Amino acid sequence: MNKSLIDEITTGLQSDKPFISPKYFYDELGSRLFEAITLLDEYYPTRVEKSIMKMYEQQIASAVGACDVLLDLGAGNCAKASELFNSVNPKQYLALDISKDFLELAIAELKKKFPQIEMTAQVCDLSQPLSFPELAGKKKTFFYPGSSIGNFNPDQVSSFFRNIATICDGSGGLLIGVDLVKGKDVLQKAYDDSLGVTAAFNLNVLKHLNRIIGSDFDVVDWEHFAVFNQEDSRIEMHLRAKRDVSVTWPSHSKHFKAGEMIHTENSYKYTKASFSDLLIKAGFRDVQPWTDPKDLFMVCYAKA
Ligand code: AVI
Repeated sequence: MNKSLIDEITTGLQSDKPFISPKYFYDELGSRLFEAITLLDEYYPTRVEKSIMKMYEQQIASAVGACDVLLDLGAGNCAKASELFNSVNPKQYLALDISKDFLELAIAELKKKFPQIEMTAQVCDLSQPLSFPELAGKKKTFFYPGSSIGNFNPDQVSSFFRNIATICDGSGGLLIGVDLVKGKDVLQKAYDDSLGVTAAFNLNVLKHLNRIIGSDFDVVDWEHFAVFNQEDSRIEMHLRAKRDVSVTWPSHSKHFKAGEMIHTENSYKYTKASFSDLLIKAGFRDVQPWTDPKDLFMVCYAKA
């Protein structure tokens, strides 16, 4: 077991406002549950982003221009980036993700379809600073679809954007998808679907934690809770104790009262203006936005 992971998780669970980092959602089952979420009627972001990418494929490709390396942040099964291969035509593709299993399988398949592109998979924790000294001098396009940026808080977003702008070093840029602010009902249904897939995704984090830290969470003691926090412009996901629960793991324990919650995820929603502002303040320029007719979601390219 990795001691720093255990310490990090222990600190979260024992805090006054208990939390678990959303990066622990993505064990093998969690990754599959997330894929299932993206197929739900209520979860519009994936579908709408795809329609924007398709509708504006040529405009996006000409905004990006020549691309030496396409860096796919949180690549998953690499499906979204591979949709760009024909129009953007990168010389090199670097797929980065926290879960190695998915990545390597996906890359092996893609290499057969696009033998002209040099492809590499790299395990990477996007909550840590990024560095690619081996790519110095190459024109880099960072690709961060799916509104995963919404899972960072605004301060983290600023340093993440500054980090990317610095790596780009005056050429290339960032192609990114972000979910937009909209009516509370649409948002809440997207994170509390009628089939209970999002609930299973949220609860599964406890099973993953049991394996990482050796805890004895029982998912039947917990329920999924999702709410739109208007003031902070974010959907919050929590796990709520259905009854008094005691959880133990090596050298530690924690008692949760009935109704007490563990905060598992924030998903921030932006306006077109607030998001452009963040990019510009971090050192990007010429932000070019594309949205769907209902302004549910935005894809934009920002030059470094
Ligand atoms: C990965 N991320 C962008 C998703 C989101 O919408 O914040 C994760 C998710 N959580 C619940 N449903 C989907």
